[in-house]
Amino acid sequence: MCGIVAYYGPNNAYEYLIKGLRRLEYRGYDSAGIALLNGDLTIYKNQGKVSELEAIAEGNNLEGKRGIGHTRWATHGEPNTVNAHPHQSQSGNIALIHNGIIENYATIKKVLMQRGHEFKSETDTEVLTHLIEEIQVKEQVDLLEAVRLALNEVVGAYAIVILSKNDPNTLIAARKGSPLVVGIGKESGEFYLASDATPIIEYTNQVTYIDDNEIVAIQDGEMSVKTIDNVVKSPFIQELQISIDSIEKGGYDHFMLKEIFEQPKSIYDSMRGRFDAENLTFSMRSLEEYASKIKNLDRIIIIACGTSWHAGLVGEYLIEEFSRIPVEVEYASEFRYRNPIVTEDDLVIAISQSGETADTLAAIEMAKDKGATIYGICNVVGSSIPRTTHAGAYTHAGPEIGVASTKAFTAQVTVLTLLALGIAEIRGKITQDRLRTMFSELNTIPQKVDNLLQSCNEKCKEIAAIYKNASNCLYLGRGYNFPVALEGALKLKEISYIHAEGYPAAEMKHGPIALIDEEMPVIVIATKRNYYEKVLSNIQEVKARKGKIIAIVTEGDEKVAEIADHYIEIPDTEDSLTPILATIPLQLLSYYIAVMRDCNVDQPRNLAKSVTVE
Ligand code: G6P
Repeated sequence: MCGIVAYYGPNNAYEYLIKGLRRLEYRGYDSAGIALLNGDLTIYKNQGKVSELEAIAEGNNLEGKRGIGHTRWATHGEPNTVNAHPHQSQSGNIALIHNGIIENYATIKKVLMQRGHEFKSETDTEVLTHLIEEIQVKEQVDLLEAVRLALNEVVGAYAIVILSKNDPNTLIAARKGSPLVVGIGKESGEFYLASDATPIIEYTNQVTYIDDNEIVAIQDGEMSVKTIDNVVKSPFIQELQISIDSIEKGGYDHFMLKEIFEQPKSIYDSMRGRFDAENLTFSMRSLEEYASKIKNLDRIIIIACGTSWHAGLVGEYLIEEFSRIPVEVEYASEFRYRNPIVTEDDLVIAISQSGETADTLAAIEMAKDKGATIYGICNVVGSSIPRTTHAGAYTHAGPEIGVASTKAFTAQVTVLTLLALGIAEIRGKITQDRLRTMFSELNTIPQKVDNLLQSCNEKCKEIAAIYKNASNCLYLGRGYNFPVALEGALKLKEISYIHAEGYPAAEMKHGPIALIDEEMPVIVIATKRNYYEKVLSNIQEVKARKGKIIAIVTEGDEKVAEIADHYIEIPDTEDSLTPILATIPLQLLSYYIAVMRDCNVDQPRNLAKSVTVE
């Protein structure tokens, strides 16, 4: 949460800062601000979106070859202009942007206030800015050393960038727990900093990812890195693999719609080169490396948050079905605090699109401390989770910008399918015939998704127009389709603000049935191979109470189609692969309902994509 950008180089910083903030707006959009160093520190900040900041800045002095920018998801202090970043020190000479939370800010603030510091905002960030200046003045040290000493006093998480009027040729940045990437510009002495690589890719593909407890100093056009304990590090420069097209809307009205339609490719990319359907073998290095561990596993624990947690639930069904190992799926936020029983014999699978979710990261650290082996399934290459896990597989879905996750989910489920099959193969729990069937069916999925997107798009729009004013919605599914129901409900409430709940279809009669009347749309996933007859009975129960049924059915289905008010057909596939297909119309339905309700689909209120606070 919160996006940060910074520029240091021979050109004006403004354009990069504004463009970069727009690219990072998915991380929060409560307020935005920039500081430009041009002899003086010029600061523009404002409650609201980056476009509003731009309107304020335009026509004013936008000169400055060093600059920092911030887009905020409020934690401490309401989302107003005073609390917007950058924050300044007591003298106003230092400006700082911050993503994270300084947990001991209140204690530091109290001490600083006793020394005469006056604070303008309610934020934890402003306290850090004052602390750095206080140390610099008191200890008579340079800015870099003052930052280093200050960070040694701080408890919490941060990615920060600092500029000082007194040091115009210096820019300092640091990270602990929140992401920070430095791009090495094409011109000499040119550097681009950001929370992730998306703002940088337009300018350079040479980047270095900063590690926890590291401080970057750019001084007189040279970059150096050291730890907060004063150990010098050599930055590892790597080439970015993402393209500029992948982070633009490409003619679609919203990133979410583009990402939904990218799924034939993202699903294909998530499985590409990972199995050989002819020889019935896997090419996943992580599986080979951990084969002996996998053979002796007693249990797998899956940890994740949000949509990734729903993918984890599908993973539980997959792994238990194919490899017959017990699986527990845990919300990372609960798992980390309840002193769970974790042993060296456990494999913990952490799933995260961003690779930065604070609760998932903390849960990983805790499980690691207890000796478990951690396997990461992440989308953002180079993010924190893949760098802290023992092994893992990237989903390769490409950048996901829409706050509501779509293509990341189907890619996660695809990777979990491969993992389940791979574990089953290592443990001798799957026959060659079954593996052959699964591989050949997996190979058809991208094309089936493509066909489905073409065939159901208009229908989803029509159904959305009918139900766009609903105030509640129920999603039902059984077996593999239960997590799909949860994900469908989450998608709707996230972006359209309609209250929606997902339930195992059979559980409906233990509560939600009381809500059903002629106003209540009930979306039921009733595919042929997933407890079809049982779900059919559940549909009858809803109809008997005059509920409206929107059914997701297998192509050619007649029984459900006859009794449902509306139905959407999906191609037939293995029951275990149904979630990938059944999710697609639910994404489109939510999308069109949100658009018809005039909601901001890509940036729903109060949400952020990368949740770097617990
Ligand atoms: C936020 C996002 C969700 C996402 C969840 C977990 O709530 O809005 O789309 O599923 O975080 O994020 P992760 O990056 O760990 O998958």
